[in-house]
Amino acid sequence: MSNNKKFYVTTPIYYTSGDPHIGHSYCTVAADVVARYKRAQGYDVMFLTGTDEHGQKVEINAGKVGKTPKQFVDDIADKFKKVWETLGISYDKFMRTTDDYHEEAVKKIFKKLYDKGDIYKGKYQGWYCTPDEAFFTETQLKDGKCPDCGREVHWVEEEAYFFKLSKYADKLIEYYNSHPSFIEPEGRKNEMLQFFENGLEDLCVTRTSFSWGIPIDLDPKHVVYVWLDALTNYITALGYGSDDDSNFKKYWPADVHFVGKEITRFHIIIWPAILMALDLPLPKQVFGHGWILFGDGSKMSKSKGNVVDPRILCSRYGKDAIRYFLLREFSFGSDGYYTNEGLIKRINFDLVNDLGNLLSRTTAMINKYFGGTLPKDRLSSGIDSELINFAKSLRSNYENKMDKYKFSLALSNVWLLISKCNKYIDETMPWKLGKDEKDYPRLATVLYNLCECLRIISILIAPFIPETAKKIQNQINATEEQCSWGKSNIWGVLDKNLKINVGEMLFKRLDLNEELEELENMDNK
Ligand code: ME8
Repeated sequence: MSNNKKFYVTTPIYYTSGDPHIGHSYCTVAADVVARYKRAQGYDVMFLTGTDEHGQKVEINAGKVGKTPKQFVDDIADKFKKVWETLGISYDKFMRTTDDYHEEAVKKIFKKLYDKGDIYKGKYQGWYCTPDEAFFTETQLKDGKCPDCGREVHWVEEEAYFFKLSKYADKLIEYYNSHPSFIEPEGRKNEMLQFFENGLEDLCVTRTSFSWGIPIDLDPKHVVYVWLDALTNYITALGYGSDDDSNFKKYWPADVHFVGKEITRFHIIIWPAILMALDLPLPKQVFGHGWILFGDGSKMSKSKGNVVDPRILCSRYGKDAIRYFLLREFSFGSDGYYTNEGLIKRINFDLVNDLGNLLSRTTAMINKYFGGTLPKDRLSSGIDSELINFAKSLRSNYENKMDKYKFSLALSNVWLLISKCNKYIDETMPWKLGKDEKDYPRLATVLYNLCECLRIISILIAPFIPETAKKIQNQINATEEQCSWGKSNIWGVLDKNLKINVGEMLFKRLDLNEELEELENMDNK
């Protein structure tokens, strides 16, 4: 593998204050798809995810259920790992901010910035909302309450350390201007520039009001607060600041950080400033994806009872259906609405009708007319070349979309080939050709062409729905080599006298009303 083909993709590290839900799964599945796609292309990939485990909220929530903070976060980190297993997430590393190497590295980073004069001691004052772990100025409050959640806030005044964020404002803007693809999608950049209108304020990076955090060596009553602890995960997980930093040397800078739109600003303001202060290169891109919303336009919250459980969905419909739905239904950079109906329809239309039927019709006909093995004699016709040319050019269209993280469009390109294949069956009418042996060479050609299309389709859908891709490849008896990325724009790869293995249906057709009722009942439980 050549050295310059490295790819480093990350998800945010999720707070361990609640159970994983479909919103977390969205970003993690997207990162997984990218990791699989890049691996297929021959990249040496590092795919990082993990959990963000410190803070007052954890301390309080753990106390409420009679656990130590560590027991509490251990349990939730395990839940995340289990959900990722259920969804088939192929992360290379799961980092936790309570891991020793991270804590040690954060202390070193803190010291380095302090020694350099980029962290200094000052006094923090403001209105604090404990459940949100957020400080507000007087003017930010709404009727004297937290502007985000509406709960009580209290006045806090404490000695704290600050990171000189203000020092980096001009450098950051300069960086955005000279690196136009640093912030994606495009619209997020304008949202971000407004934060610079009144200059940047220095950032408070320690607290003394709680203890569940990383204590700093020079003043141990202070623990590192939120962003300096969380953002640095992207480098500490690679060994930065530890004895073995070979992965850091190999993979940093990240190719892309996937983050939700509300935390994009921390990733494109605070994170690059910290890296600049550490004299480290900046990530190549920060992609701020949209939210999956619910009927009332809210994000997702336990108190609103709209936390869709990915484990339940996977156990009912299978991981591939959920992975497909998440990236096909929503356009990654924008918000979209989740509905159970949308999910069931995607499964029935795209996976059962289009893809599933194409495979089952093709293999059933090879079985019926040729006992499962295609004869060698062939007869081509003009109608074939349109299909073949489309199939051969599919990969480059698909890559074009994938490289911009336009997952839904990449998939709809593949589905175009699927529908062209189904149309090709209607037009060539294999059931007619099968009536007369003299038409068998033509029939064999039609069925072979369909298998070739299925082979190409299986390669391109594999990053999204890997189990389904494997099932297709088994049924058309295609080897791993025949299904390598390099073979996805080449025609005529399968054996001429292909012997297929008829297997089970890829996806089961669902009764819309029945499913909606079942899911509705679960929601209300
Ligand atoms: O912010 N749709 O953690 P977090 C799409 N620990 N994305 C959603 C979503 C939804 N309905 N709900 C949540 C944190 N998310 C920090 C990150 S990174 C150094 C530290 C996404 O658990 C959300 O947009 O609150 C965010 O990107 C991610 O889940 C983690 O949220």
